[in-house]
Amino acid sequence: MNTKITAVYPGSFDPPTKGHLDIIARASKIFPKVIIAITENYNKHHMFSLQERVDMMKESVSSIKNVEVDSFSGLLADYLINIDSFIVIRGLRALSDFEYEFQMALMNRTLNQKIETIFLMPDQLYTFLSSSMVKEIAGLGGDFKNFVPDAVYKRFKIKNNL
Ligand code: PNS
Repeated sequence: MNTKITAVYPGSFDPPTKGHLDIIARASKIFPKVIIAITENYNKHHMFSLQERVDMMKESVSSIKNVEVDSFSGLLADYLINIDSFIVIRGLRALSDFEYEFQMALMNRTLNQKIETIFLMPDQLYTFLSSSMVKEIAGLGGDFKNFVPDAVYKRFKIKNNL
């Protein structure tokens, strides 16, 4: 048994939400070290650059000691080998997430048999929350302050002249 397991929480985090932070807090209580690995999702058009997303995430998790923020390009399976990890954390909000997550978990395990994906459920307060929903609400003039960490709220307003 490996007692020094590093878990990786990958995602596009465009932008990070309180739902993401809830998952990070839970993962940080289970694993000695958690790396938040931010990348491009080629199926999505991102509002924030990779560097902006890394900066927002770093500010948002600065108080959690065993959490680091990193970025990567290419396959998650290759990134995991590079940092000597085999645990992927993903949040599961509702049944609608399941098909995509199931496909990704099994594809990653096909690429590397050692990879295990562990799903964590956020607090029920956040089961309806997503980065796309935050962007839509903000774009339509709605109040999104309670859905994102303060660091994200400030940067979001500056970027979009809100
Ligand atoms: O937050 P997202 O956008 O749902 O995260 C999806 C992400 C970034 C984890 C996924 O697209 C990914 O792992 N991208 C890296 C490239 C890769 O490995 N693709 C094959 C995944 S099975």
